[in-house]
Amino acid sequence: MPVPRPRGNALTTLRAMRRDALATFTGIRREYGPIARVPVPGARLYLVSDPATIQEALTATGRLYVKGSGRSTDPDDGGFQPLQRVLGKGLLTSSGDRWRRQRRLIQPMFHRARIDGYCAVFAELAERTAAGWRDGEVRDLHTDLTELTLAIVGRTVFDVDLDTSVMRQIRTWLTANMATARRGADTPWGRLLDKLPLPSTRRFNADKRAFDAMMYQLIADRRAAGATGTDLLSLLLSARDEDTGEGMPDEQVRDEAVTLLLAGHETTANALAWAFHLLGRAPAAQLRLRAELDEVLGGRLPGADDLPRLAYTRAVFNESMRLYPPAWIVARRLLQPRDILGYRLPGGSMLLFCAWVVHRDPQWWPEPDEFRPERWLERDPQRPRYAYFPFGGGPRQCIGNGFAEAEGVLTLATLLRRWYVMPTSDRPPRPRPLITLRPAGGVPMVVSGTPPEVPSGH
Ligand code: HEM
Repeated sequence: MPVPRPRGNALTTLRAMRRDALATFTGIRREYGPIARVPVPGARLYLVSDPATIQEALTATGRLYVKGSGRSTDPDDGGFQPLQRVLGKGLLTSSGDRWRRQRRLIQPMFHRARIDGYCAVFAELAERTAAGWRDGEVRDLHTDLTELTLAIVGRTVFDVDLDTSVMRQIRTWLTANMATARRGADTPWGRLLDKLPLPSTRRFNADKRAFDAMMYQLIADRRAAGATGTDLLSLLLSARDEDTGEGMPDEQVRDEAVTLLLAGHETTANALAWAFHLLGRAPAAQLRLRAELDEVLGGRLPGADDLPRLAYTRAVFNESMRLYPPAWIVARRLLQPRDILGYRLPGGSMLLFCAWVVHRDPQWWPEPDEFRPERWLERDPQRPRYAYFPFGGGPRQCIGNGFAEAEGVLTLATLLRRWYVMPTSDRPPRPRPLITLRPAGGVPMVVSGTPPEVPSGH
């Protein structure tokens, strides 16, 4: 029996995906069940929405699944990864031995004790943002939070205070080029477009050159300074190959550095921006959050020791990533034929795990579209572990998972111990599913020192 697939021709689905990928995947899941073929010509794509199967695929050891799209069943073939155009072959986009070596090298940067040490930086930089807000003004919080998370990753991972011109360059590069970078992720012919001298491709290449020049300068400066620090750049520069004793080439240092810079701030900024958006529409949740902050912090800045006691703040962050998972889709390529949910899938199949779909599945989440942080205060024993996977899972799980959670909770705590936020319009920002789930048009909100009114009935 073939895997169920949407009616109509492939072009209809493709067009729907281009118009609204989130609604299309949600519809496919609802109508065709936990596994469905996504009819894209030239690719063998399946949407898999069953938590146990997602867990099996993400945590599988051995050579069953790999990252990167394509039809190859060669485990050393990294396949096509759109982000490689920006990141090169850093931790997120490399595979095989290179990935293993780099993961081992970089992992210590993310040990608990190191993260605890970063917590003071999270609070200090968030407090700087809070101090720049004025009562009653309208701010685009997506922009503010992107600047904040970029500053945080700059300081913690690179030990540099990114000045505003560098920040601006990074933001321009990311904002202008995300769609171009992603082109080719859905269809093989998207990749052909890159071979043409389109204005978007030319801009992408020019911006990339400018950006790389900046990164190589940062690397050269650190080399010249002796690279003795404990930050990531120093660590990469002082690393030696076990066999040859040689250092890492600048190009590889660049790839890892850009990966951490990008992966380390873009997702967290989106998670926080969506959290503010949701809180703006939930005055009661905002007041409860403030009550927790008043009680736990009593007016001081939060730190690592407060994390276990900021249960509601953490619940708000988790619930926001449930409704708006910044990494909204994760994919794996199957290397051998395999029975999955009762169907025999050939090697070379691509499995898509859409967090947006699974995180809103009414089977696991009562009133799935409601923002209800309380659901995180007690564990539901019926809910499978992978009904929620904002950080992926298994060996390729987000290396910055613990970092991002501490950063998210402490940033919310620092900003919201002083401020309340209110929406500027009834229309919520539209999620734009590129590589990450960004709010189209930003998240404009009024920041205020006065508590919001809770409508009666709450
Ligand atoms: C809310 C914030 C974040 C979210 C939602 C997130 C999500 C993810 C997900 C889903 C993956 C796995 C992708 C896959 O399996 O295909 C991943 C990988 C990764 N993330 Fe994050 N991430 C976040 C924050 C961070 C931070 C703060 C850093 C670094 C400072 C970071 C660095 C990375 C790296 C390097 C990888 C690749 C790991 C590997 O393949 O070994 N992320 N992230």
